[in-house]
Amino acid sequence: MAVKMSNEELIALALEAREGAYAPYSNWKVGAALLCRDGRVFKGCNIENSGFSATVCAERTAFFKAVSEGERDFVKIAIIAGDAQRGSEGYCTPCGVCRQVMSEFCKPDEFKIICAKSVNEYHEFTLREMLPECNFIVEDNDGYGFKPQ
Ligand code: THU
Repeated sequence: MAVKMSNEELIALALEAREGAYAPYSNWKVGAALLCRDGRVFKGCNIENSGFSATVCAERTAFFKAVSEGERDFVKIAIIAGDAQRGSEGYCTPCGVCRQVMSEFCKPDEFKIICAKSVNEYHEFTLREMLPECNFIVEDNDGYGFKPQ
C-alpha cells in the first residue's frame, strides 16, 4: 500500500519535533519525522548529554521510538536543524551511525532521506546514495547483505 504524505507535510512534522530538542552543548537543534508504511509518523529530536557519547541524534530517536512500537517498514524520513529564532542554517544530513541504523531496517534504493532547510527547501536522497557499498557481504541489491537469520 502506498502511503500518501508529501515531503512538505513530513518536514512540517520534523519542525514540530525540533521543538523537543535538548541541545544545551551544541545549541544545534535537530528534528526528524519518520513515515512508516502504514501511515504512522514517529517524531524524534536530538537529546544531548554531558557525557557526550551518550547523545542521541534526532533520526535515531525517531527510529528507536518506531521500532520499539512494533514498526519496521519505513518509507522516508525528514530532517531539519536550527531553531525557531535563528532559522535553519543549512541542510542537516544524517551522521554515519544514523545511516547505519537506517540500513538495518530500510531498503537502500527505496528509503528516502529528506534534508530540509525549510518546508519548501530540501534535498532528497536515497539511503544508497547516503551509504553506498556498505554490504558486509556483497550478495544482493535488494537490501544490505548481512541480516539477522
Ligand atoms: N545531530 C542530529 O541529531 N542529527 C544529525 O543528523 C546530525 C547531528 C545532533 C547530534 C548533536 O546533538 C548535535 O546535532 C550536534 O552534532
